[in-house]
Amino acid sequence: MPLPGVPNLEFQLPGPDNHCGMKKLFVKTYGCQMNAYDSAKMADLLAPLGYAATYAPEGADMVILNTCHIRERAAEKVYSELGRLKQLKAAKAKDGGRMVLAVAGCVAQAEGAEIVARAPQVDLVVGPQSYHRLPEMIARAARQNGHVLETDFPALEKFDTLAPPQASKVSAFLTVQEGCDKFCTFCVVPYTRGSEYSRPPEAILIEARQLADKGAREIVLLGQNVNAYAADGWSLAKLCKAIAEIKDIERIRYTTSHPRDMGDDLIAAHGENEKLMPYLHLPVQSGADAVLEAMNRQHKADDYRRLVDRIRVARGDIALTSDFIVGFPGESDADFEATLSLVRDIGYATAFSFKYSKRPGTPASTMRKQIPEEVKAARLEALQKLLLSQQYSFDDSQIGKVLPVLFEKTAREPGQLMGRSQYLQPVHVNTDAAWIGGVVDVRIERRTANSLHGVLA
Ligand code: SAH
Ligand code: SF4
Ligand code: F3S
Repeated sequence: MPLPGVPNLEFQLPGPDNHCGMKKLFVKTYGCQMNAYDSAKMADLLAPLGYAATYAPEGADMVILNTCHIRERAAEKVYSELGRLKQLKAAKAKDGGRMVLAVAGCVAQAEGAEIVARAPQVDLVVGPQSYHRLPEMIARAARQNGHVLETDFPALEKFDTLAPPQASKVSAFLTVQEGCDKFCTFCVVPYTRGSEYSRPPEAILIEARQLADKGAREIVLLGQNVNAYAADGWSLAKLCKAIAEIKDIERIRYTTSHPRDMGDDLIAAHGENEKLMPYLHLPVQSGADAVLEAMNRQHKADDYRRLVDRIRVARGDIALTSDFIVGFPGESDADFEATLSLVRDIGYATAFSFKYSKRPGTPASTMRKQIPEEVKAARLEALQKLLLSQQYSFDDSQIGKVLPVLFEKTAREPGQLMGRSQYLQPVHVNTDAAWIGGVVDVRIERRTANSLHGVLA
């Protein structure tokens, strides 16, 4: 499972691979957690039509690529995958079968009909706000031989028609807010996901209870700007409080938050709501005011420092993470130094950093003073070195401590379980699978590159 805040990870929807009389569905997910949530919803939606999830595209009756448009590389990966799928589709046709090939997600929204022009093997193109229409689109595709496209923005209708969760992981995603009105000058999200929309609290609470009934012990509330959540007079803090009252839910997290929407009640909640985990993904992107302004982030670097101070007053041990972009147009050496200096001041538990990627149609893509690739690469390397050293020292500071770990699943190594600390660090322990779904005290003994290891305390 991707960490909250990690855009552009690929993973596949797990499936039982037990297909007696069922049609095989393969969903490949790119991008952020909202896409992961949407992939699970698409699988739930197609289950009544007889589709069961499978691990591999070979021989599948339906393949959905749930795509990401955030950086150029993310979008290009889709076309190379479509090239591979063309062969599999032809092989299936040779055997007298049919593979329905769908492109969903943010590339579908951004490129629409261009996808079928470039990759005519694609049958369906469906945007992130219209995938609830998939069953009807599949029926249309079966009747006709052309392509079926849906890229409207009926967010309200989508959530009203989604099926209840069929299953749940121990840590379950729950989308509460979608879209973005902030228009950072580098970003495609306002164009691919539409304007900000918050789901009604009752619908969210129903879904949270359904997830708890299916085995969820942690709920991760999702939104492109999750802390901008506002519906029927409810804020995100109020929503977290109501979810904390669901007995089986032990932990609550939320992602991604924007520094401008960190309300006083949400900051206070980190000190008051015991189920709200001390981990916050609060992207700053840059530590230089000139760059922040050109990005249209609408805050200064010192506003961010002060905000972090206030959050740390509410919850002293909060683990902070962020996203950074290096090589934004016009970023000088001094601007980049200001980013390094902000990172040193804050001290991150972990963070994600990217080279600026030009996105068609965004204001930054036509800004003068684009930064050469080799400068971007050198800056990224320097920033990642600093961030990694902070991550290691944060992880090392846990050695010898007893941390509550929520066990999520068996690890790759036999006899081992994987869980997460309150700070979202992966923790590996040799213990009984019966602990899956439980929060158990673990004495941390050592760290490897990406994980902590310990024993039951
Ligand atoms: N809503 C969140 C971010 C969502 S996109 C926020 O405002 O913080 C996830 C991350 O992708 C961003 O935080 C940013 O760091 C990165 N990103 C977005 N557009 C990008 C681009 N054009 N080039 C490089 N990185 C980008
Ligand atoms: Fe993109 Fe900015 Fe909106 Fe985040 S706040 S999704 S970076 S436009
Ligand atoms: Fe990518 Fe769309 Fe998410 S562009 S990061 S999948 S909102």
